[in-house]
Amino acid sequence: MVVRCYTRTMIRMTQPRVVIAEGAVHLPSWMPVEAQQKALHEIRALADGEAGFYTPILRNGARMRVRMLCCGRHWDAKTYRYDLLRTDVDGLPAPPIPEVLRQLACEAAESAGFSLEPDVLLVNWYGAEGRMGLHQDKDERPEIIASGVPIVSLSIGDAAIFEFGGARRKDPVQRIRLESGDAFVFGGSSRLNHHGIASIVAGTGPREFGVAGRYNLTFRQY
Ligand code: SIN
Ligand code: MN
Repeated sequence: MVVRCYTRTMIRMTQPRVVIAEGAVHLPSWMPVEAQQKALHEIRALADGEAGFYTPILRNGARMRVRMLCCGRHWDAKTYRYDLLRTDVDGLPAPPIPEVLRQLACEAAESAGFSLEPDVLLVNWYGAEGRMGLHQDKDERPEIIASGVPIVSLSIGDAAIFEFGGARRKDPVQRIRLESGDAFVFGGSSRLNHHGIASIVAGTGPREFGVAGRYNLTFRQY
């Protein structure tokens, strides 16, 4: 079922917009504090649910340096495929994407000049030593990738040094500090650009959130 975004929440419409590459847009402070708090509430409910966070183990046996939970569909770290069940974890169904979060993703896409009908959400939690190597998001359906439908990434908590490169792994990489409340959207001709997290800047998140580390939400259309 395709659910479109019809309503608008509390997002301000005039905001800074930094074009990093064609189709890649950094939206600093895109989420107001109240929206971040609402999102955190949803993340905590997911974390406390039956299908909470786990540490993905890749097919080469390496443990990823993030904890993860998936909504809508589960990303299997062994097969790099999406499934309705947590096939490489515990076999439980992936919970649905909370509506509040889905709506945020639609609006962030729109703020960057795209449209997105997200059916997958990966929530990552990074501790102070968390990181993620350069990779492409290329496990979605080929026709969706080819159409340039974007990935929407939202950050909450500690800042992170985000690396954004090109379509080839050896292409030069830009380093962008993503702060709590930032959105980063990449689609169009940047859809398959390499990206990753070089490091977490521990202790920089808003104190009032009571969050240790960093949450990152990436929304995808499968
Ligand atoms: C990802 O690429 O899956 C996560 C990126 C981030 O944590 O900002
Ligand atoms: Mn990614």
